Amino acid sequence: MSKFLKAAFLALTVFCLSASLASAQDAKAGAKVFKKCRSCHTIGEGAKNKVGPHLNGMFGRTAGSIEGFKYSKAMRARGADGLVWNNQNFIEFITKPKKFIKKTRMGFGGLRKEKDRLNLIAFLKAQSVGGKASPAADGSAKNEETKTQTKLLAKDVPVPSHGILHLGRLAQLDEVAAWDIDIRPDGKGLPVGSGKVSDGEVVYNENCARCHGDFGEGIGRWPILAGGHDTLTDERPEKTIGSFWPYLSTVFDYVRRAMPFGSARSLNDNDIYALTAYLLFLNDIVEDEDFVLSKENFTSIHLPNEKNFIADNRKDEAHRAIKEPCMSDCVAGSPKVVSRARALDVTPDAKEGESVE
Ligand code: HEC
Ligand code: HEC
Repeated sequence: MSKFLKAAFLALTVFCLSASLASAQDAKAGAKVFKKCRSCHTIGEGAKNKVGPHLNGMFGRTAGSIEGFKYSKAMRARGADGLVWNNQNFIEFITKPKKFIKKTRMGFGGLRKEKDRLNLIAFLKAQSVGGKASPAADGSAKNEETKTQTKLLAKDVPVPSHGILHLGRLAQLDEVAAWDIDIRPDGKGLPVGSGKVSDGEVVYNENCARCHGDFGEGIGRWPILAGGHDTLTDERPEKTIGSFWPYLSTVFDYVRRAMPFGSARSLNDNDIYALTAYLLFLNDIVEDEDFVLSKENFTSIHLPNEKNFIADNRKDEAHRAIKEPCMSDCVAGSPKVVSRARALDVTPDAKEGESVE
């Protein structure tokens, strides 16, 4: 090997080595970067507010929300507008604090290098301890967060930029998470868990059968949950999970959200998987009582009527292309009743022996 090549090879090895070291030990490199913050901020066990607020539990916390620290109006306003620190907005902030929050009191120019910013994040996350810094907290980061957030009442924050509804307080992250339970047809939102048809039968008999019947046939006028195949074109179609519903995700979501009627949210996720599996069984969509429905195989199940649901393409229809439909003040003068539903005969006839009054 020529001398020149050797040197180049050596340089390359050193470069690779240092690059991999940097990525492996970025929290360590971040500690160096944090020296720039240290005159104003502390983090870790026993951290206190100094010139700037302590940075424990910062990721996931609403901006400007540490109780007892005197933030600028600008920082509190951003918090009131919903700014919660995450990797992305923290990077934006720390790149040029005064660009991200114009009137922040933080007297720091910014971090120019992307690598410094990323290493700093690793360091802050590694150092962060929950609770201990706040006298009111009981040791868990989550609790500290919740407590500091609870205190942030509307009267304590400036009127947000939209200027309306200056009431209440910010929703807390765990409150949002508790409501955010929707499940999509592609399986997004499904909780971890599973349940067997035969276990679902037990849960069903205990919690559902008294209204929906032993086999989903419906008792009295409670809804029918099974059957109704090939009735969709009848005058009075029987719309059930098996005959009408397009997606299984709706079954899981609906049962978890709303059933048993009167004690919604009383069953756990495995029970809901088992019930959903049992409802598939009652609708002849699965036949094996040992079938286990789980987060993993959920989207492999398709309900029979799925293909009859089509995307709403009315906007593409010919008459729309000519003219947008009139939505207001379409007829001159004051409105007049010109027809009645009864006269139009849109009310379905009663079934034999049933009263529709
Ligand atoms: C000269 C003092 C000073 C330096 C240096 C400084 N900060 Fe700040 N920092 C502050 C002050 C003061 C605030 C409160 C700003 C406000 O209320 O507008 C603040 C606010 C923050 C916030 C918002 C915290 C919250 O509770 O919402 C973060 C995050 C932050 N600083 C991170 C850093 C990091 C990381 C560095 C180092 C790269 C740094 N700061 C350097 C003084 C400083
Ligand atoms: C006290 C009676 C009652 C009990 C018990 C009950 N439900 Fe219901 N269920 C209802 C009522 C009422 C509706 C219709 C609610 C509505 O339309 O707002 C309904 C609707 C449903 C639907 C939607 C039916 C459709 O086609 O619209 C499903 C699925 C369902 N229940 C499943 C269950 C399961 C599973 C259980 C047991 C965990 C259960 N229900 C327990 C009364 C009950």
